[in-house]
Amino acid sequence: MRLDKLLSNASNLTRSQASKAIRQGDVTVDGVVAQKGTVKVTEENQVIYLGTTISAPKPRYYMLNKPLGCVSANKDKNTLTVFDYLLVPRREQLHVAGRLDKDTTGLLIATDDGKWSHRLTSPKHEHSKRYRVDLAETITPEAKQLLEQGIMLEGEKKLTKPAVVDVLDSQKIILHITEGRYHQVKRMLLAVGNEVVGLHREAIGHIELDPGLEQGAWRHLSPQEIDLSKA
Ligand code: URA
Repeated sequence: MRLDKLLSNASNLTRSQASKAIRQGDVTVDGVVAQKGTVKVTEENQVIYLGTTISAPKPRYYMLNKPLGCVSANKDKNTLTVFDYLLVPRREQLHVAGRLDKDTTGLLIATDDGKWSHRLTSPKHEHSKRYRVDLAETITPEAKQLLEQGIMLEGEKKLTKPAVVDVLDSQKIILHITEGRYHQVKRMLLAVGNEVVGLHREAIGHIELDPGLEQGAWRHLSPQEIDLSKA
């Protein structure tokens, strides 16, 4: 990253104040006074501004227990967003890894690491998403079988990938899917003649919603949760 960008990200300085500080000789890189803001630095360089060590911000990873009634967008004119609950600095730099509908609750992950979120959510990597689903009608053995085989959703040309269905009671199931198509769970249930009346995401891959998080509360992901190599 450019030195002036690093300095302004890590301090209260604007980009132009940061450039000025660098030109004035207030910043050293590995013990040498920096000359220009355009110089590139990495996490391995030691950057010091007026005696204070500055480090490049590391990527950030959060889980939120999403409540009902907020949308998975960065901004919305009329409705609360998940970032009205995830009140962390530089929220505008975060994105949601796997959106949830306004009326869905549960595990929502936000990060500023685009490669990581792609790996977590891309169907190619087949990380399973686990949902608790409340249904309007009884789940039939035929519907369960269809969901597990793969079904054609309205307006699509490809079958859904096989799902796993655990029946908890006649109108409550746990659904495991590896894709993230638009309104996928609701459309899958509609396709088998049922209707979702309550939807809650419990897990994405090896990342489980922390049972200690109240609705609307968040925490950082742990290093084990961030590590996708074993997921
Ligand atoms: N499937 C849906 O239909 N809605 C969600 O919010 C998530 C998955």
